Amino acid sequence: MADALLKVTGLEVHFPIRSPFLRRRTGTVRAVDGVNLEVARGETLALVGESGCGKTTTGKAILRLIDPTGGSIRFRGEEIAHHTPRQLAPFRRRMQIVFQDPYASLNPRMTVGGILAAPFEIHRIGDAKDRPGRVAALLRTVGLPPEAARRYPHEFSGGQRQRIGIARALALQPDLVIGDEPVSALDVSIQAQIINLMRRLQAELGLAYIMISHNLAVVSHVADRVAVMYLGRVVETAPREALFFDARHPYTQALLSAVPEPVPGGRRTRRVPQGDVPSPAHPPLGCHFHPRCPHAMPVCSQEAPASRIVSPGHAVACHLVPA
Ligand SMILES: Nc1ncnc2c1ncn2[C@@H]1O[C@H](COP(=O)(O)OP(=O)(O)O)[C@@H](O)[C@H]1O
Ligand code: SF4
Ligand SMILES: [Mg+2]
Repeated sequence: MADALLKVTGLEVHFPIRSPFLRRRTGTVRAVDGVNLEVARGETLALVGESGCGKTTTGKAILRLIDPTGGSIRFRGEEIAHHTPRQLAPFRRRMQIVFQDPYASLNPRMTVGGILAAPFEIHRIGDAKDRPGRVAALLRTVGLPPEAARRYPHEFSGGQRQRIGIARALALQPDLVIGDEPVSALDVSIQAQIINLMRRLQAELGLAYIMISHNLAVVSHVADRVAVMYLGRVVETAPREALFFDARHPYTQALLSAVPEPVPGGRRTRRVPQGDVPSPAHPPLGCHFHPRCPHAMPVCSQEAPASRIVSPGHAVACHLVPA
């Protein structure tokens, strides 16, 4: 990708498991185990996979909210994987996150005006006089009235709170917003409103999104490209159409067959993955998917498959794909 805004290569986040008695390291949770991703300016990449496969940890590591234990994160051409807090400061405002739970992510003791003014205070942008005007403009952007600034988060509905969360993420005009299941906690009727708001803002502000979801259906119509994650690794990346109509990885095919509504014209394989996701503390050798894969071959439990390009922008990590 020529003009990648973000390029993540071999990203690893390994958490130590410590014995509570001996305080000794007894193992490792390989939450993120070699993730490769790219995001271009203004595009939406969906990051999908079952719960526990490492989506949130990947998002937090990209934002440097947790420290990666390996790999590279290039943002706007600069390597930030090992930046110190001081070096990260200019990048912080350019990358923001919207969390799943609008109830938990807003400080209940602050007014909405205070919550939305905080990013300007922290980054010393403007002065106290112009903050109310900035806050009112943000509220207008997300479809809330200026009076909302005087009220507290509990006075709003879930959908309105998520609008406040989005306004906070947009305050500093970021290049990249990571939405970590941003509509999963909302009523189905509200989900479309919030998704549509995020799409409108993307068009107006030229934002790039990483939309994290455990539900392929939620991201199917907003994504330009989709990356499918399984147990700490990206197993398939493709433009949206190719992913839905020409999925090559058996795990992607299984996820698609579990999508409740058939995608028009899409292939329906009806192979829901067997069994539970193994623990990232003990990932299977070779291809992480082999214990559940209907096509597993002897090589699959021995060697991790390399990622191979099958068509422009479409990469698959599976031994079924010829080299
Ligand atoms: N701080 C942590 N310490 C140990 N394990 C963790 C920590 N955070 C997440 N994990 C584990 O890492 C794996 C991936 O978690 P997560 O990134 O939240 O997955 P997802 O967002 O895809 O549901 C899970 O097995 C989770 O239990
Ligand atoms: S590498 Fe083997 S086990 Fe893994 S998805 Fe492909 S066929 Fe299945
Ligand atoms: Mg998560």
